[in-house]
Amino acid sequence: MQPPPTPALRLFEPVRLGRYDLPHRIIMAPLTRSRAGQPGNVPTALNACYYAQRTSAALIVSEATQVSMQGQGYAWTPGIHSREQVDGWRLVTQAVHQAGGLIFNQLWHVGRISHPALQPDQMLPVAPSAIRPKGEAFIENEDGEPELVPFVTPRALQIEEMPYLVRQYSRGARNALASGFDGVEVHGANGYLLEQFIASGTNRRDDLYGGTIANRARLLMHVVEAVSEVWGPDRVGVRLSPLSTFNDIRDDDPESTFGHIAERLSDFRLAYLHVVNPAAEAIEHGTKPDPRAMRMVDLIRECYRGTLMLAGGFDRDTAEAWLERGKADLIAFGRKFLANPDLPERFRLGAPLNADDPATYYGGGAKGYTDYPTLAQERGEQPWPCVDERWR
Ligand SMILES: Cc1cc2nc3c(=O)[nH]c(=O)nc-3n(C[C@H](O)[C@H](O)[C@H](O)COP(=O)(O)O)c2cc1C
Repeated sequence: MQPPPTPALRLFEPVRLGRYDLPHRIIMAPLTRSRAGQPGNVPTALNACYYAQRTSAALIVSEATQVSMQGQGYAWTPGIHSREQVDGWRLVTQAVHQAGGLIFNQLWHVGRISHPALQPDQMLPVAPSAIRPKGEAFIENEDGEPELVPFVTPRALQIEEMPYLVRQYSRGARNALASGFDGVEVHGANGYLLEQFIASGTNRRDDLYGGTIANRARLLMHVVEAVSEVWGPDRVGVRLSPLSTFNDIRDDDPESTFGHIAERLSDFRLAYLHVVNPAAEAIEHGTKPDPRAMRMVDLIRECYRGTLMLAGGFDRDTAEAWLERGKADLIAFGRKFLANPDLPERFRLGAPLNADDPATYYGGGAKGYTDYPTLAQERGEQPWPCVDERWR
């Protein structure tokens, strides 16, 4: 049987991404799943299976991956700082490449979004300033179960430690290269370390890393520079989340802050800039976006001279409409990719989507991870793979 023709959608137009030619514009967004092997937060064969199932994405951005023990903020997330983790990630990249996919590693340091229970020697998490975030950390308790515990007041980093932070990212970048990834995405979004420096609400420093926008963006720029030296800028992306308040983040003047950062990042000639869409909720619920959110989307498009990826709240039709209106070049899908390993195929056919199950987002085994069916499996044309009882 002939496959049905690809619809004439912008989503299915090829696009250049830094060093790579992508067959379409549907990206898998980074998704933390807290299923790394223990002890040691090491990627496993089950993780490799999950990613290999999703290689119809034009690009997979891996789950956030801590660049150091200090950079960890949630139980069971994978790292990229030990030899075992590099070997574990190699399983993942080989499986993805065998299935014809492309995968970038998202490099992560959580800063204050952590807890002594997750830190080496139970030390305090680090941050630009000693300001405690509202909310709770996701840790493993003494019974090996997940537990939410209140955040603590972090320790403010000393200026002498800044080169060490940058070195954590360059080591992560080198390890990602050794693991066989195709590139890296610097996680500058969602209220983690780099955004804690960027945002005026979490950065009260009066040294070279605080105060002016250029100073607050300095660590991000140093990290992007260091990582680009390892990979070449055309295999490096950066993720930002302007206007988001996730993880208790706040900036006094986001338009100036993110306008400046988008301009400065343009100079690197990166593979892409990835923005968590500030209008995500409105898109998802079909309501009118806040004008502030739309101004931010337009500002970034104007200030960033390069390939722009947007994520957040999209379905096939809204993604298509936003591409059509020139708001972005690529669209990343999170929860829809989590629940639909063959998302591009479903979009191509206009087929119904599996619903995602939030109860199995974080932790556990194959259930809610590798057992979401593809259309081909539902039709009985493919074996139902990767639900090995030992992995449950
Ligand atoms: C379970 C889950 C885990 C996530 N983990 C990450 C992550 O590791 N890194 C990141 O930058 N964003 C993460 N996000 C945010 C997603 O990448 C994406 O921006 C968000 O889900 C909105 O897109 P969607 O509406 O298509 O799901 C996560 C979201 C979910 C639902």
